[in-house]
Amino acid sequence: MAVCPRFLLILFVALSRASAEPTEDRAALLDFISKTLHSNRIQWDPAASACDWTGVTCDPKRSSVVALRLPAAGLLGSVPNGTLARLSSLRVLSLHSNRLSGPLPSDLSSLSSLRHLYLQDNRFSGGFPPWIPALTHLTRLDLSENVFDGEVPFAVNNLTRLTGLFLQRNRFSGELPSIAIQKLVSFNVSDNQLNGPIPESLARFPASSFAGNLALCGGPLPPCTNPIFPSPTPAPSSGAPKSSSKLSMAAIIGISVAAGAVVLVLLLAVILWCAIRRKRGKRVERPKPAASLPSGEGETGGTVTSWSSKDTGSGIGERANKRLTFVEGTGYSFDLEDLLRASAEVLGKGSMGTSYKAVLEEGTIVVVKRLKDVAASRKEFEAHAQVLGRLPEHENVLPLRAYYYSKDEKLVIYDYLPAGSLYALLRGSRGTGRTLLDWGGRLKVAMAAARGLSHIHNSARMPHGNVKASNILLRDDPSSAAVSDFGLTPFFGSSGHPPPRFVGYRAPEFIETRRPTFKSDVFSFGVLLLELLTGRSPNQTSFGADEGADLPRWVQSVVREEWTAEVFDGELVRSHPGVEDDMVQVLQVALACVSTMPDSRPDMAEVVRMIEEILSRSEFADGLRHSSEDSSKGSPPSK
Ligand SMILES: *[C@@H]1O[C@H](CO)[C@@H](O)[C@H](O)[C@H]1NC(C)=O
Ligand SMILES: *[C@@H]1O[C@H](CO)[C@@H](O)[C@H](O)[C@H]1NC(C)=O
Ligand SMILES: *[C@@H]1O[C@H](CO)[C@@H](O)[C@H](O)[C@H]1NC(C)=O
Repeated sequence: MAVCPRFLLILFVALSRASAEPTEDRAALLDFISKTLHSNRIQWDPAASACDWTGVTCDPKRSSVVALRLPAAGLLGSVPNGTLARLSSLRVLSLHSNRLSGPLPSDLSSLSSLRHLYLQDNRFSGGFPPWIPALTHLTRLDLSENVFDGEVPFAVNNLTRLTGLFLQRNRFSGELPSIAIQKLVSFNVSDNQLNGPIPESLARFPASSFAGNLALCGGPLPPCTNPIFPSPTPAPSSGAPKSSSKLSMAAIIGISVAAGAVVLVLLLAVILWCAIRRKRGKRVERPKPAASLPSGEGETGGTVTSWSSKDTGSGIGERANKRLTFVEGTGYSFDLEDLLRASAEVLGKGSMGTSYKAVLEEGTIVVVKRLKDVAASRKEFEAHAQVLGRLPEHENVLPLRAYYYSKDEKLVIYDYLPAGSLYALLRGSRGTGRTLLDWGGRLKVAMAAARGLSHIHNSARMPHGNVKASNILLRDDPSSAAVSDFGLTPFFGSSGHPPPRFVGYRAPEFIETRRPTFKSDVFSFGVLLLELLTGRSPNQTSFGADEGADLPRWVQSVVREEWTAEVFDGELVRSHPGVEDDMVQVLQVALACVSTMPDSRPDMAEVVRMIEEILSRSEFADGLRHSSEDSSKGSPPSK
């Protein structure tokens, strides 16, 4: 009798061992990975539990696999039939940013518990997978950046729980069905070959959700001219017509010839126009018109529009006898007159005013920031400008060089750094194949910005007040990047900081009080780190499924659901195998900075220490492991 309990115990242990491994799912996973080419980053140890494999998440009882996340894992070729479909409890399937191709196997229709399906940024082709509308639990579906074609089926309406539907950058054609899913908050079909009217049920989404199609109209786009909308004319640039097209050969030839002729005529017109302009330009250039700074109204920072001579500005020319005040120790020798004669180019427009690149006649280049809605009196303005000018020099801070105050114009002048801003670098080079700021570079820029801010906090004893990517200016060496535009808030008087067009970087308490503090700078810096990690702009209007979510909240929600790797910039992860370790550490710093409670945020000096520490241990710091070419474009990864 005494043997009995012991026997039961052994039996129990044996049973719980057995149930601690999702045996069938494990077999399915092994089947999948053995049939799919992949990089050697996926090494599933047969001796370990499948629940501990990279990218695999089990339920708490470890009895089944509930999530498979293999983003940017170098997966290549088609998804094998009869493998993933066996993961019957799967809720999340993320295979984005790989090089998977071909049609998706139809047996995936058996994944009836699936909530999130991320297949973007692959080379999947074929029609809209007909089995997807049967996955009625789906809340997010991302098929963007593939080569799917054919029509978007009306049956997507079966997905009543869907909050995000991303079909952009494919080759979907035909008309949009009337998709009326109430929970849908994010929707994008841009850059396809759709035509016809935008259904009323979708008209609430912004124009950018529909941009880049053949001939969509109505809703946020210009109205459809004809109630029976005109048949689509292929855009001249959209490549060869597909063979599945119902147009006859003659029609195709006719349209092509017509389109070609139109392009030719346009091209000739442009060339002619340019030639005439150049001639005229030459004639007019010599007697320089009384120069004035171009005027510009609120826009986001960082865009460069070229200086237009048509622009009359609000002439400060008449009062040009006023004095420009240089901050002590500045090597510059020019006056307001020179500045007014300089050629100017808009660098960016923000809530505080517009920045110009001014090229003086003797070749000096400076940045002139024209402040708008300044409330400070002349005395207050000059006193504060002097304070700004007295900040001890620091490599990572761009100092104020000069300022100007008159009734109509308030200017502050800085050095010009030709490498441009972090904003321009992060936005400008995306997807163009030009060099992306590599991870080591990003870490160094982050460290430089943190050091600059820490200097402003500790030497000037004032908050920066406007930390954002367009105020981080780069130099050739990323660790010499400099923070600009600090401490301007007092110019705007007792009403506080001007309300920004975008609140992306603002701490919650700053949005309310409009008074920056050290801790609100720390918050903004945390957002900047998130921007470096995710490659996403905080001024984007929608993040994830939550309406009104901002970048910090989006990242927090994703991280809470343990999809840490999903937030990272795919381009970066792909070009730097093994970078996630570093990224996770920086993510922790960033999340501490964006705490809702100011008191729980670290101060800038601590942030500097943390980033220096990460940088000192990073194997990417010296560009040693920067291998964007061989990992993304080179030979297919070995099995
Ligand atoms: C996948 O397998 C099922 C049955 O096992 C079969 O009916 C189907 O045609 C296969 N699909 C492909 C694409 O091979
Ligand atoms: C969509 O739902 C309807 C009704 O529930 C059903 O008859 C239809 O088969 C479903 N379509 C797809 C493609 O699942
Ligand atoms: C839709 O996707 C395009 C990329 O193709 C992007 O530029 C645009 O901002 C997106 N629009 C929305 C509303 O997300």
